[in-house]
This record gives sequence, structure tokens and C-alpha cells, in this order.
Amino acid sequence: MSERGELVLQRRDDALELRVNGVFVMDTAHTETERLLAGETLGRVDRDGLRVLIGGLGLGFTLREVLADQRVAEARVVEIEPDLLDWHRRGLVPDTEGVLDDPRTRVNLGDIAEVLDTLEPCDVLLLDVDNGPDFLVYEDNSALYEASFLGRCADALVPGGTAAVWSADASPQLLAAMREVFGECAELVIPVTLGQRETTYHLFVARKQVELEQAGFEDSLQHQ
Ligand SMILES: C[S@@+](CC[C@H](N)C(=O)[O-])C[C@H]1O[C@@H](n2cnc3c(N)ncnc32)[C@H](O)[C@@H]1O
Repeated sequence: MSERGELVLQRRDDALELRVNGVFVMDTAHTETERLLAGETLGRVDRDGLRVLIGGLGLGFTLREVLADQRVAEARVVEIEPDLLDWHRRGLVPDTEGVLDDPRTRVNLGDIAEVLDTLEPCDVLLLDVDNGPDFLVYEDNSALYEASFLGRCADALVPGGTAAVWSADASPQLLAAMREVFGECAELVIPVTLGQRETTYHLFVARKQVELEQAGFEDSLQHQ
């Protein structure tokens, strides 16, 4: 139990399943999109010595994928549920065992909405804290999909940095909020099969513009 309710890690067939207050969050059988969140985003980044910020540890698949990229110098995870950190540390999630022990991993226990502004700027920010804006596990997370919080994510990025948000559903509102903040935003639609059901998961990926800041810099040079 946490102050947000009952967090359960249970075995179902060959997979581990994470539920919060009875609501399905994720399992270890379908992790392609959690891994793509990292892989697709890092694939768009052309730099070394990367600082990556991950909102939501979950079962650790996004973090494992981030750590597999040798250009990553630091992978910082912000996780709200102490039990999840504890389960990983006790080796209860064998698929991603060791992700918290990697020397590049840093952990902040807390709500990303509260922690974000205290962190060093990052090159890549990956947000997967909930099922997406229209199917929330934690009602308080609804603000994390709105322009004002996404603007804070943009502020947390270095110029040219990249942000990506995971969602279980298409969300025109989220796409619009990302475009409002970042200018452009790509929506990747990924087909997934859940048991008998065909559906799609969605990644919203955007880059913080450098041009505006450079323009400001050139302006200031001209005025010297
Ligand atoms: C869907 S899981 C993340 C899955 C992860 N991408 C993976 O590969 O396993 C969401 C995680 O975010 C955490 N979380 C939820 N709300 C949060 C918040 N506001 N700040 C930080 N972590 C949060 C949950 O406890 C959960 O561990």
C-alpha cells in the first residue's frame, strides 16, 4: 500500500503484471512500446554523453533500453512509488534485474511534477508515468499531459533536446499540447496485440527548438 492506494505485482501465466488499485498498468509480456519509447527517441538524437531523464520506472524496460545505449552518460529515473524501487532492488523483476545498479543510473523518489525543476538539464526526457491522458491510474497525473507541465519539460531540456510521451490511446489534446510547446511533434502509432485484442499505443516525440535561442544569442551579439 502507498498513500495512492494498493500497488500489486502479480504473476499471470509467464508474465509479471503491475496493477494499481486494481487498474492494469503494464506487464512483462508486452513491453515493445516501453522499449521503443527509449529506442525511437534516442535514435533521433545525434550526440554523445547523454543525460536522460525518465519519468516512471515501472518494470524498468524503458530504463534498460536507455542503459543499452552506450552514448548515455546518466539515466535519471523519477519514481513516485517506493515499493517499486524496493521490488527492483530485491530482484523481483528478473527481466530488468540490475537496472538500478548500473553506475549511470540515478534515482529520485517522488512525483515528477515536484522533482522536475530541481534537476540538471537533460538531453532526452521520457515520460511514461501513467496510461495516458484519457485512462489515468492516478487522477493527479492529468496535469502532466497539459501544456503547462510540458512547457516545464521543455525548460528541463537543453536546446535541441528531445522529449517523448507514452500514451495507451491517441490523444488529439496531447498532440495539440505538445505542438503548442514544441512547435512540431511526431505521433508514432504502434500496433499491439493484447490477448485477442488488436489496438495501438502512441508515442509523442518532439524536439526543443534551438533556432529561437540561437536567434536570441545572435541578436545579443549584434547589440554588443
Ligand atoms: C507505466 S509505468 C512505467 C513503465 C516503464 N516505462 C517501463 O518500461 O516499465 C508508470 C510508472 O510511473 C510511476 N508514476 C506514476 N505517477 C508518477 C509521477 N507523478 N511521478 C513519478 N512517477 C510516477 C508509477 O508508479 C509507475 O512505476
